[in-house]
Amino acid sequence: MTTSLEIRDDRLHFDGLDVADLARQVPTPFFLFSARQIAANIDALRTAFTRRHTATEIFYASKACSNMWFLNAVLRSGINVEVNAGGELIKALRAAFAPRQIVFNGVAKTVAEIELAVQTGVRAIIVDSLFELERVADVAARRQQRANVALRIDVDVPTLTHPGLATTHGGKAGIDRDDAPAAFDLAVSSAWIDLRGMHMHIGSQITSVEPYVRAVETALDIIDAAEQQHGIDLEHLNAGGGFAIVYRSAAVCQPADYFCSTLAADDYAEAICAALERRNPRLTLFLEPGRSIAGTAAVLVTTVENEKTKGVRDASGKRVGDERWLTVDAGFNTLLEHTNYRWYYPAVVATRAGQPATAPFRLAGPLCDGGDVFAGDGDTPFRHFPEGTSVGDIVVFIDTGAYSLEMMNPYNARPRAAAYAVVDGDVRQIREPDTFEDMVMHDVPPGAAAGSRDHPASLRTEFP
Ligand code: LLP
Repeated sequence: MTTSLEIRDDRLHFDGLDVADLARQVPTPFFLFSARQIAANIDALRTAFTRRHTATEIFYASKACSNMWFLNAVLRSGINVEVNAGGELIKALRAAFAPRQIVFNGVAKTVAEIELAVQTGVRAIIVDSLFELERVADVAARRQQRANVALRIDVDVPTLTHPGLATTHGGKAGIDRDDAPAAFDLAVSSAWIDLRGMHMHIGSQITSVEPYVRAVETALDIIDAAEQQHGIDLEHLNAGGGFAIVYRSAAVCQPADYFCSTLAADDYAEAICAALERRNPRLTLFLEPGRSIAGTAAVLVTTVENEKTKGVRDASGKRVGDERWLTVDAGFNTLLEHTNYRWYYPAVVATRAGQPATAPFRLAGPLCDGGDVFAGDGDTPFRHFPEGTSVGDIVVFIDTGAYSLEMMNPYNARPRAAAYAVVDGDVRQIREPDTFEDMVMHDVPPGAAAGSRDHPASLRTEFP
């Protein structure tokens, strides 16, 4: 869990700031980021890996949080960026990352996106299929501009994580490993391709190191074979991201619960670097961590807006118990993964943070959707909060910096939330909430002319 959290006088502080105090000054819900925590997370990874393999370059996976302030904080920390679509590439360029600081992933890159990547001269277009390799070669030939390429090979290792987050054992991404020789042949023989490396990404929130050990060994086998066959030296192995953060404390962990992790940056670094140092130390190691940089860097601050007690009834309708419900002002419009993946985000009552959290509550979001109910603690449907928790209390969801701002939506015409950051002890706004005008601006009312605004369709025309 994030090191920026602290309880002082019964109140939750994040990076030294009294969270409930801020919630009195600005409307909830809002995200609160910590510049210090972002830097600390990046430092932990950089130190762990470069100690073991000096030639390591970190490309922050911007899909985890591509807010422009956040990208700038990443840039200033001296690391690079990974993008997954033309829009993320444009954001990275706008944030002033240099082309050689950018790698470009994606499982359905359009011709226009590839054009932009080739024109920009990104460090590597990470190719997802044999088909896409030809598409990149065609675009590069047409532009008469060489393309830097890495091949994403599915190293096929099972991992223990949320089934939606496993990528290398029946997942959609990457080139089948049986096709790796054909992909290397094609890349090496193509006049307009500069083959730079091999990429793999075994999934997200990976809570054991064994899959990395197996994946790196497999990747090195594939690289050995290709280097020998073609007499080439690849620049890099990209080992992807996936490093887990701790969503549940060890005390309530069940075996195989992917919300629990006992691993630190050093453990991942040891697993990934050992084989590399032994077998091919000349290779530069690329990494693409997202969650492990953004996750612990923010909390989501909400207010309890409703409370009630409802009966629990048996099949005959007899009331056999009671459940206390609390409803907060953020649901899956603000924290999509709480329903999309039933993701468990720990929650603390900021206004009663020092009191024992022993009373069970069902905790719900505000949306008109019966599924907008937060996962409970352990294997219960309940969140445990201090006994008197009620309307007006500030409930803070911890470790919500990754895949949250990115995935907000305006369901029920609820504005997408604001975000703030603590920077050197001061609070600054890094995202404005949607206005109600924002909610209607994309709709074309009867009689009005469409196409008067620059909206995502124009993103395509921004590509050459
Ligand atoms: N590289 C590639 C090619 C990826 O697909 C991903 C994540 C990463 C790097 C970064 O992985 P990380 O270090 O963050 O685990 N919305 C989901 C997560 C989706 C992950 C997508 N790919 C969630 O909230 O859990």
